[in-house]
Amino acid sequence: MYLQRRNRITRKSEAIRSLVRETILTPDDFIVPLFIDEGENVKTEIASMPGYYRNSLDVTVNEVKELWSMGLKAVLLFVKSKDELKDNTGKEAWNKDGLMQRSIKAIKDAVPEMYVMTDVALDPYSSYGHDGIVKDGQIVNDETVEALVKMSISHAEAGADMVAPSDMMDGRIGAIRKGLEENNFINTGIMSYSAKYASCFYGPFRDALDSAPGFGDKKTYQMDYANRIEAIKETVMDVEEGADIVMVKPALSYLDIIREVKNAVNVPVSAYNISGEYAMIKAAAEKGWINEDKAIMEVLTSIKRAGADLIATYFAKDAVRILNQ
Ligand code: PBG
Repeated sequence: MYLQRRNRITRKSEAIRSLVRETILTPDDFIVPLFIDEGENVKTEIASMPGYYRNSLDVTVNEVKELWSMGLKAVLLFVKSKDELKDNTGKEAWNKDGLMQRSIKAIKDAVPEMYVMTDVALDPYSSYGHDGIVKDGQIVNDETVEALVKMSISHAEAGADMVAPSDMMDGRIGAIRKGLEENNFINTGIMSYSAKYASCFYGPFRDALDSAPGFGDKKTYQMDYANRIEAIKETVMDVEEGADIVMVKPALSYLDIIREVKNAVNVPVSAYNISGEYAMIKAAAEKGWINEDKAIMEVLTSIKRAGADLIATYFAKDAVRILNQ
């Protein structure tokens, strides 16, 4: 054969492969989700997330120091609320002495440069395990948004750098932005979970926080995974309402959505490599069916290649360890 073009030339050796490589992961790509519990010296492995823990605040602070020393610069906080603090208003969410608020302060005191993001949604505080206030079996939008604004302001007050509403209520980004402005939190950002799908892959996360919905599912607020155009509509609206960063969640079954969102908006796009995606790799690796480290790098690179500027992932520390090898 006399071929005009031989595509294998740029794949011949690791040297040329690395020279033409388009997508390279760095520690700057990652947001590290942290699960925080009450108590002291508590480190509980999450059954459906082997190798991942729910830690008390003292343990969390040490973890954050380690993350910073590894070059990881952002954390996303989730807290496990005690059952007796849960109700249908979610009011523990804006308790200024609540676990979230204490955690934000302790982390900022210990590692002031660490960029602290906080999950904003009522599910860890809701006696129904829903992201909003429940009335007559419905998750009511506008009252929930009022609660989310209070929650966001209270996170900002405690020192959060960016709030991350994950609830999918309508109009919450605009309302939160207005609330932050009115209270002079002009440096507090909003990372909106803009295109968040109703996914079975959240299961292990709900184990971690004991936050599974008590009735029904989340399909009246989270998106139908069959839909694509809706993701663009949701995301564009969030940008118009003032989101600094938008998010697609989950990541792996939604790489097409990440790419379309990336092409549609002019703000950074994040993707959440969620708990069930973590669990799948862990389970297959445990059985010896896939190579864990290789799977981690392939999956994270694919999310970045799809268009994610930032990736929230339980594999952040592993990825940095692998990158340093
Ligand atoms: C709560 C929230 C969820 C996740 C992040 N924030 C679960 C849900 O919506 O039920 C999932 C994260 C993961 O699965 O890793 N609003």
